[in-house]
Amino acid sequence: MLNRETQTQRGEVLTEMSGRDAWTFSQADFESIAQIAKTYFGLNLSRSKMALIQSRLGQRMKQLGMSSFSDYLVRLQGPLAKDERTELLSVLTTNVTHFFREQHHFDALRNTILPPLLKAAAEGQRVRLWSAGCSTGPEAFSLAMTILDLCPAAKTWDLKILATDIDPIVIETAKVAQFPQAELDGIPRELQTKYVTETGPSGVGEIKGNVRSMITFGVLNLIDPLPFHGPFDVVLCRNVAIYFDRDTQTKLWRTFSDVMAPGGHLFIGHSEHLTGAAKSEFSKTGFTMYQRKGV
Ligand SMILES: C[S@@+](CC[C@H](N)C(=O)[O-])C[C@H]1O[C@@H](n2cnc3c(N)ncnc32)[C@H](O)[C@@H]1O
Repeated sequence: MLNRETQTQRGEVLTEMSGRDAWTFSQADFESIAQIAKTYFGLNLSRSKMALIQSRLGQRMKQLGMSSFSDYLVRLQGPLAKDERTELLSVLTTNVTHFFREQHHFDALRNTILPPLLKAAAEGQRVRLWSAGCSTGPEAFSLAMTILDLCPAAKTWDLKILATDIDPIVIETAKVAQFPQAELDGIPRELQTKYVTETGPSGVGEIKGNVRSMITFGVLNLIDPLPFHGPFDVVLCRNVAIYFDRDTQTKLWRTFSDVMAPGGHLFIGHSEHLTGAAKSEFSKTGFTMYQRKGV
């Protein structure tokens, strides 16, 4: 199908897919979407992404049988607004994730951070870990496998992993815990053997129940007030704040600081930075790794 994009002097991007499907996406339309994204999700949409967003919105509008952006805006304000905003979120963000992403974080957890926490849990103390913005779950599963590999008895202690994301679709996928072999290959071979079922003819393997039972998955928007107080001993929030504007990022670091135990460990994404007053409440312990002060 012919798919041609041109940008006019007014900043209007015109897409011509075929005469029948042609629709326009103006600067003002982009601003409307950017406003919704900021209000509901804390997202910061850069103008440089306008063509990309238009293309993705075009796919969503096609699914809905719409050819006019104003119809789509009406849907975003009507009775289906809440559901459509969830769809919009998937259009605007990426859920890219993988097992043992940023290996140095998992090395630090295995070698220095988890051993004292496991000792405390073995002595009856409460230990909580949070994968915030967990997407389909590989981050939380990697954490649980690392813990079980260090200490199989950990699943009987008061040690729990919370894994949350704003997108209900990825949370449902995480709960099912089935992944194609290509994704499972991110798990070190010896851990795969222990904690993943054999890949069947469908090419899909499942994370075993002992790993899954350590994690509670739930839908949670990080820009809303949190429904819990912690304290968390470990928080991983990686490659999430990158989508937020600076004010929202600053509030997020404050939020984490408030729910983390003194001495708790925070991991962020490779292109993210702590900002604002909360920054002084953390000591840097390594690249994109921080420890809440007050041990
Ligand atoms: C690129 S993925 C990162 C997944 C994982 N943390 C990792 O590093 O592999 C970003 C995730 O952040 C989630 N997200 C975006 N905005 C959010 C918000 N306001 N609250 C909670 N999660 C959000 C997205 O739905 C997406 O699943």
